[in-house]
Amino acid sequence: MDVEALEQAALAAVAAAASSDAVEAVRVEYLGRKSALPLALREVRDAETGKRLNAAKQRIETAVAARSDELGRAELDRRLAEERVDVTLPVGEHERGRLHLITQIRREVEDIFLGLGYRVVDGREVETTRYNFDALNFPPGHPARSPLSTLFLDEHTVLRTETSPSQVRTMEAQQPPVYVVSLGRVYRRDTPDATHTPIFHQVEGLAVDEGITLADLTGTLDFLLKALFGQERRTEFRTHYFPFTEPSIEAYVSCHVCDGAGCAVCRHSGWIEVGGAGMVDPALFEFVGYDAERYTGFAFGWGLERIAMLRHEFPDLRELWRNDLRFSEQF
Ligand code: DAH
Repeated sequence: MDVEALEQAALAAVAAAASSDAVEAVRVEYLGRKSALPLALREVRDAETGKRLNAAKQRIETAVAARSDELGRAELDRRLAEERVDVTLPVGEHERGRLHLITQIRREVEDIFLGLGYRVVDGREVETTRYNFDALNFPPGHPARSPLSTLFLDEHTVLRTETSPSQVRTMEAQQPPVYVVSLGRVYRRDTPDATHTPIFHQVEGLAVDEGITLADLTGTLDFLLKALFGQERRTEFRTHYFPFTEPSIEAYVSCHVCDGAGCAVCRHSGWIEVGGAGMVDPALFEFVGYDAERYTGFAFGWGLERIAMLRHEFPDLRELWRNDLRFSEQF
């Protein structure tokens, strides 16, 4: 075998190889297990020839490695150039999700009360008539007890019609002082229209301690109303009736359109009704085993949808649940 000629041919082929694949083909041809040089090396008997063959093989190997390296780098450079991404190019704007308006208001109310030192507690959406009505002092035959206004699951079980049962469950579970709010869904057998949906949300508040007065209640609600609707708004409280509070009041905020002068929005009264409240009726304390001589308390229950509507002045409550982005993305 003419080792010299073989080596020259191999080195020339390596130099001529124009791609990594071509270099690999040259390697297989001259250095592969079944090619002439390795076969000769396996059969060689004298040291001198062995040395010469090995030296030639090593030179070819070195040339293959160098060429392969060189081509590899060139190919990488070309790909980097071709597939270059300009990270500074502007991209299309990403749509970001957002919280539903009612969730936003729910969290806002929770934050307001957490800031006042209240706890946030959960209630139950499936309630017994005992907690939804009896414990709250609803007399037998009260219209709310009728299956025409309340969704019954069975004779003694309802979808809660208000968050007020959470007052009773909270008091049963702990001794005063109690400062809690509880927010969530409530259910009524209403036909949906612009101002009613059969599922809506309420915030229930309850404070029980020694020496709590009506002034504590109106002070707290005044703080809440201004935090929700603006510091410039005025507040007013009028007597009302609820079975579970005595006395009961209804909270009003000055009309944002006419500022009290009277207009169509406030039905010419200057005031807009927000929701109910009152001093906890001692009958509830009796039910949960609190000492009604020692403790007094206040409670309130407002609709979150109503707060949303008053704040954003949309005309139809049902918009909140239609999931039309043109509506929901405004908030
Ligand atoms: N539960 C009443 C309702 O759904 C709202 C309410 C009024 C809750 C007065 C209260 C309260 O805690 O004191 O209409």
